[in-house]
Amino acid sequence: MFDISNASDGKWVTMFAGKGGVGKTTCAGATALHRASNSGATLVISTDPTPSLAHIFEVARGAEPVRVSEGLSLAELGLKEIKQMWDKKFGPEVYEVFSSFVAVDYDEFAEFVTSILPGLHDEFMVDYIKELSQTQTYEHIVWDTAPMGQTLGLLETPAMLREHLRPAPRIYSRLKLGSRTRRSVLDIIKGWEKLSGEDMEFLRQGVSFVIVTIPEALAVEQLDGILEEMGRYGFSADQLVINNVIKEIGGSSFLQAKADQQRGYIERLYQQYSGMKIVEVPLFPHEIKGLERLRKVGEYLFASD
Ligand SMILES: Nc1ncnc2c1ncn2[C@@H]1O[C@H](COP(=O)(O)OP(=O)(O)OP(=O)(O)O)[C@@H](O)[C@H]1O
Ligand SMILES: [Mg+2]
Repeated sequence: MFDISNASDGKWVTMFAGKGGVGKTTCAGATALHRASNSGATLVISTDPTPSLAHIFEVARGAEPVRVSEGLSLAELGLKEIKQMWDKKFGPEVYEVFSSFVAVDYDEFAEFVTSILPGLHDEFMVDYIKELSQTQTYEHIVWDTAPMGQTLGLLETPAMLREHLRPAPRIYSRLKLGSRTRRSVLDIIKGWEKLSGEDMEFLRQGVSFVIVTIPEALAVEQLDGILEEMGRYGFSADQLVINNVIKEIGGSSFLQAKADQQRGYIERLYQQYSGMKIVEVPLFPHEIKGLERLRKVGEYLFASD
């Protein structure tokens, strides 16, 4: 089984996923910091359209990696950057295909396509992280994502695109295009199909999934759905983090009541996911910002080291 404390089995990227607000970014940050100081150059990157990674590391945000501490760089890809990068890498080719049968100018086209096909951005993010992992600039990449709905889109898109591209050659062969145009368009489509296949392969082989949850009714209930959904696309989670666990009561009847309630959910999680590595992170009496507090979280995530 893949273990976030040991990235030696061929997975370079650890992706943190889970429902909104459960502590994905906090755990991603803590993991990246731990990796950077124990096993080499690490990049922590967010593709959440409302990112908070730079905020918790207290650095300026940007799409280009900035150095955070010894061995650790950070990047946040916002919607704008993703759109720009997509435009640069795929825009002209996609335009070439479409403009072979629709008279439309490029800007209008790019705006239209990227707005009706948000999946293209998802595909681009997967592709971008895949390429980053292939440059071997980093020993590890820690990937902080948006709340689960969006992340599932990310996982689904390469397979979906591949599926949708399958009938394309048949359709194109019927279009009244010159045979040279038809040939080059078909080559481009084949290229996309291949790319989607590679992106899927990368998600399967190169990415380890860590699911973060909290011991509360809704989060625990939704977990099954999340894992089932992932399973449907052929992915499984390697580790479960139970965050916000109340460990110190200090004589407070309020905290005691909350801890009692949490215990039921925690037990349920251990029973239900007995095959998975599970770690608990305590609820701290303060928000988690800055290197020192992130290191503290890391001590719990990597307690078994
Ligand atoms: N164990 C903890 N103890 C105390 N506060 C925590 C803990 N984990 C996370 N927090 C706080 O909870 C808030 C949400 O955490 P975080 O941003 O990591 O969640 P998220 O899952 O990434 O949220 P989103 O879905 O919005 O991206 C932050 O203010 C963070 O400091
Ligand atoms: Mg987050």
